[in-house]
Amino acid sequence: MDYDILLKKAQEASKNAYAKYSNFFVGACVLAESGKTYVGCNVENASYGLAICAERNAIANAITNGEKSILAVAIYSPNIDNCTPCGACRQVIFEFQKDKEIKIITKTQDGCKIYSINELLPFGFEL
Ligand code: THU
Repeated sequence: MDYDILLKKAQEASKNAYAKYSNFFVGACVLAESGKTYVGCNVENASYGLAICAERNAIANAITNGEKSILAVAIYSPNIDNCTPCGACRQVIFEFQKDKEIKIITKTQDGCKIYSINELLPFGFEL
């Protein structure tokens, strides 16, 4: 799967972000092991701490649809370049790494950046 397509889907999802408190819009697109993609956007709340990040909503969408592991997560925000996942989302992404290393793709001015989840979250917690 072309990472540009994942970023485009993340960009489309960012348009649906419910971000009336921060005005920080984020979209994410998960590529699951099946080859299917799942999107999510951030959803905020008047009780600020209840905000859910785009990445976690995209993962919840994938898992809800029967996926067991994920291969990549693309993240897009119109607000900033190179929007990397927050610490909580890194741990949630790490949970669904199985045989292959999960790639994290972000948009930059001149293209994209590709990280591995192990690079962004060394020694992630697992049971
Ligand atoms: N947010 C995400 O959705 N993903 C990130 O990677 C960073 C932060 C959201 C949470 C909140 O709705 C807003 O961006 C500002 O923190």
